[in-house]
Amino acid sequence: MAPAMPLYSSYSLMNSPPSIGTEGDPVHTVHPSDRRRVTLVDDEPYALDVLMRAARSWNFDCQAAASAEEAVALLERQPTPIVVTDLRMPGRGGVWLVQEIQKRWPDTSIIVITAGQDDDALSQCLVAGAQHYFLKPINFDEFHHALTSTMRSYLHRREKEKNRRRLEQSLDRQRRELRRTFFSAIDCLVRTLEARDRYTSGHSLRVRDYSARLGQRLGLSPRRLKRLSLAAKLHDIGKVGLAEGILNKPTALSPEEYSNVRDHPVIGERILAPIIRSQEVLAAIRHHHERFDGNGYPDGLRGADIPYLARVITLADCFDALTSSRAYRAALSPKAALDIMRSEAGRQFDPDMLPAFVSLVIGH
Ligand SMILES: [Fe+2]
Repeated sequence: MAPAMPLYSSYSLMNSPPSIGTEGDPVHTVHPSDRRRVTLVDDEPYALDVLMRAARSWNFDCQAAASAEEAVALLERQPTPIVVTDLRMPGRGGVWLVQEIQKRWPDTSIIVITAGQDDDALSQCLVAGAQHYFLKPINFDEFHHALTSTMRSYLHRREKEKNRRRLEQSLDRQRRELRRTFFSAIDCLVRTLEARDRYTSGHSLRVRDYSARLGQRLGLSPRRLKRLSLAAKLHDIGKVGLAEGILNKPTALSPEEYSNVRDHPVIGERILAPIIRSQEVLAAIRHHHERFDGNGYPDGLRGADIPYLARVITLADCFDALTSSRAYRAALSPKAALDIMRSEAGRQFDPDMLPAFVSLVIGH
């Protein structure tokens, strides 16, 4: 319980409230939520009244509670930047209140008043996050100083927090802008790649569309569908380094040319690795020429070891290649292409995934 409170004050509260006003206050623009509001908590009505009068005379808006529980209920309705609380009170008491405030309103600054016989409780409060304490009997200079300096540091923290958020938002904006720039550059690259050869024109976008539709049929989440679409659009980006003419050479490739072509999944992964963070996208690009039986490239992965998205792209890629004209053959019909692909189930293609692709193409 709070002891009777003799007032050692250099001010006469009743007659001439200290006209401290904004003296020494921060020069911040005060946001409505930064108003000088304080919750005062003391079970001793007289002490509470004295604290209220003093705080009001210094232009603080006050709300008062006679217990820790009541204070929490008040703060739930109307949080304040500062809480001033007695330590010893019936019920859960000041230490609990300090801990509760720290847990639920971590931005709130706490000032503890103690009768001086509560060293353990006081250290618990300070450990729990109370910023100031002062001893009873209350010295009003001290109380005023505690309130104004706490308010000042509260505003300072708030300002810092606002600046931090502003900085983060600006970094986010820049990051988004950078990504947009990057992706338009990549789109240009894809268009450039395809413009080099009329036979492959539109291939990347068609593979993206087939892959996305197959991904939907296979029940991929929206996030994975996005990754799949990106990987499918960029799957052949590594071909930008290939010499003109190799892509659609009507005659057989020389061993060196063939080896160059086989490098394109790895080159694609290498080009994109500094910018694309998703390992799943990069892996889908690297492995889109693996075969289910382990005879593909670049790593000879087999079966379920081949990344899932790469297996999806392989189906879309092969179907589009078979149904498009090439310099060395005419386009196959979808039915003929699917017949070839069915015969490769378990060899080139994932046999569990192929039926979904077939039904996608024939419209079931
Ligand atoms: Fe490819």
